Amino acid sequence: MKEQDWWWPVAVVGEEQAGPQPVVLLGEALVLWASDAGPPSLLTDRCPHRGTRLSLGKVRGDTLECPYHGWRFSGAGQCLAVPAQPGFVPPASTAAACHGLQASHGLWWASLGGRAFHPLPDLQGLPARRLVYGPFDVATSAPRAVENFLDTSHFAFVHEGWLGDAQHPEVPPYDVVHTADGRPVIESYQAWQPRASATAAGGAWVTYRYEVLSPFAALLTKRGDGDAPQDSYVVWACPQTPESCRLWFAQYTTDTHTPDDVLRNFQVDIFGQDQPVLESQQPKRLPISGGEAMVAADRLSAAYRRYLKQCEITFAVC
Ligand code: FES
Ligand SMILES: [Fe+2]
Repeated sequence: MKEQDWWWPVAVVGEEQAGPQPVVLLGEALVLWASDAGPPSLLTDRCPHRGTRLSLGKVRGDTLECPYHGWRFSGAGQCLAVPAQPGFVPPASTAAACHGLQASHGLWWASLGGRAFHPLPDLQGLPARRLVYGPFDVATSAPRAVENFLDTSHFAFVHEGWLGDAQHPEVPPYDVVHTADGRPVIESYQAWQPRASATAAGGAWVTYRYEVLSPFAALLTKRGDGDAPQDSYVVWACPQTPESCRLWFAQYTTDTHTPDDVLRNFQVDIFGQDQPVLESQQPKRLPISGGEAMVAADRLSAAYRRYLKQCEITFAVC
């Protein structure tokens, strides 16, 4: 499965401090936890004794204690103690599988089996102020959610009066180019937006730049005229199951004065408009092998589907 070649976002950095966190990635139940010392750890959420969820357990010192019979596991997943058999040293084979974990962009990233070799997306050059919104649990596949983030022709309908104008539903021509590693990019896309951001005073022409970052992540940058702030947004999608995903949105902005809540509420409102439409789409898996109508205005969506095919993604697509 090529999906295992990539790192996937699973939690916001800091969430692990609240106790063991259940996480679902590529259909696997995992537990993210942090010991009192040592780095956080990501284990398969299944006790090797009787299959109980370790995420229901407790952190004890530098171990994770299973809630059923109290077996204790190290950060590497090794069983270190069996309370019913004091003095017994469990063999190395008594372990919960340990997965790759690293922090970047304010999130924890997981690699199933520690096999990922593709580097994490590089976000150099974005404005310094970063806000991370989410998680948003969405009853559709990760690629449906990412394609929606790349889709401009829904603005006049789903975001009417905000990102789109019902009098101007047309999508101006645009070119899709590709990065050296085959990721689709639109360098410049012009849109008239009635209310482009949390601080917009009125309608404005906005220039968008779109970039697919990895199979289930994308970046857009919005530039207004003159002194308008530059805002970049990233969607990070965690493919939980083939038909459900967990999303975070990160905003990078040159706006240094608008309170966090105001910026967050704007994004929450925008995604609240998207979510019911997204969850209504059938099939929930993204059809990358045909079966849906395409017009010229959809060429970024078409390029994204081709990119997923090139990456040999098979999870959450059909
Ligand atoms: S099931 Fe985990 S200790 Fe028994
Ligand atoms: Fe939208």
